[in-house]
Amino acid sequence: MQDEIIRWETNGGVEFIKKTGIQAGHRVIDFGTRVGHYSIPAAIVVGQSGYVYAIDKEKRDLDVLEVKKKKLDLHNLEIRHIDGNPILDFINKTIDVVMCYDVLHLLRKEDRIALYGEISRVLKPSGFFSVFPKHVIEDNPVEYFTHMHLEDVKQEIQSLKFKLANKICDTMIHDDRFAYDCVFVYGKTEYDCHQVFTM
Ligand SMILES: C[S@@+](CC[C@H](N)C(=O)[O-])C[C@H]1O[C@@H](n2cnc3c(N)ncnc32)[C@H](O)[C@@H]1O
Repeated sequence: MQDEIIRWETNGGVEFIKKTGIQAGHRVIDFGTRVGHYSIPAAIVVGQSGYVYAIDKEKRDLDVLEVKKKKLDLHNLEIRHIDGNPILDFINKTIDVVMCYDVLHLLRKEDRIALYGEISRVLKPSGFFSVFPKHVIEDNPVEYFTHMHLEDVKQEIQSLKFKLANKICDTMIHDDRFAYDCVFVYGKTEYDCHQVFTM
């Protein structure tokens, strides 16, 4: 992997993750982490009082992340291999942030709906769902988003207990390359989302 991408994970990526609202002490799930481009900076931001769970179904990618984790001595990063079912093995209301970056298009609609339910279940009332939606009709459509516009994805999420609280556009990483793009941050509807972003 290119050196500048690896460097971003511990530099620019840290600043980016802070902008999304992740803070020291947070417990974060990165669902579909792949090689951890976002899990690593998240683990740096949450620090020793927080924890990041990097989850994926591809063992080979997680092995790459394991090597990076060891090099950086990140004791607060737990790498979990799952079977691809949209189930979060966490207790109700114990997680501050769930990230789904460039992954929703790989899930069938019924699996996305199941995952949103799981995310809502594990998030604390003040928690938030951070989404990097890719591969919709206006953005190189593939897999299960070939018929969906960005607005359709946002509507799908908002129809299921989430309310848009913030949008952050910045330099990010997509497919191991730098790209200027945006993430959408949702709060839970039973909570006043504005309180999430009094930063
Ligand atoms: C395109 S990569 C995005 C990786 C990372 N989030 C990023 O933005 O750099 C999508 C990842 O989601 C994972 N993934 C897809 N469906 C999954 C599922 N049902 N359960 C767990 N991981 C899944 C894939 O294995 C892949 O590593």
